[in-house]
Amino acid sequence: MDAIFARRSIRKFTDESLTDSQIQQLLRAGMAAACAKNSQNRLFFVSEGRGSLPTLIQVHPNAFALKTAAAAITVCADLRQAAQIDPLNPWWVQDCAAAMENILVEAADMGLGGLWIGVHPDPKRVVAVQKDLGAPDFIVPLGVAALGHPDKVKEPIDRFEGDKVFYGAYHEDNNS
Ligand SMILES: Cc1cc2nc3c(=O)[nH]c(=O)nc-3n(C[C@H](O)[C@H](O)[C@H](O)COP(=O)(O)O)c2cc1C
Repeated sequence: MDAIFARRSIRKFTDESLTDSQIQQLLRAGMAAACAKNSQNRLFFVSEGRGSLPTLIQVHPNAFALKTAAAAITVCADLRQAAQIDPLNPWWVQDCAAAMENILVEAADMGLGGLWIGVHPDPKRVVAVQKDLGAPDFIVPLGVAALGHPDKVKEPIDRFEGDKVFYGAYHEDNNS
């Protein structure tokens, strides 16, 4: 729970780089995430250095964290592989989202900062990232994890809200 509550969106980072072993650990965290039918059709693109993914920064109104982030991991699906496994069920969105969250929670556990930068389903952002990564159109980016040492640490947060929980069936006036 400590790492889960410590994961906050960090949009400004210090000049300190990430080590190869830190990046490796974050990749391992991403790849350990749950994956529908265990298809493992996710791809992880590591971009090191500030100002990575410049085309995305241009088209995305809220991707400025990449200007100071020491590294970025873009989580993508290989849709050729996904279609072979199940052409009718695009589980790849959930698969990639699970990997994104694992990376960000692990970053928090390592004392690092991270930000989920949303890409899919915005077509402009998808094309921009494909351009930045030299990726063909069957490799679709779900999101970018901007990573680095936080400029300021945010407080951990527990957002539990009892009225969003239903024990049993839906009912009005939920006070559980
Ligand atoms: C699917 C998704 C897309 C997001 N996209 C962006 C984004 O493009 N830019 C950004 O600054 N934050 C983005 N966020 C971060 C949210 O704004 C953030 O998680 C939310 O405000 C709650 O704050 P917290 O992460 O500190 O708990 C995204 C989060 C998710 C889950």
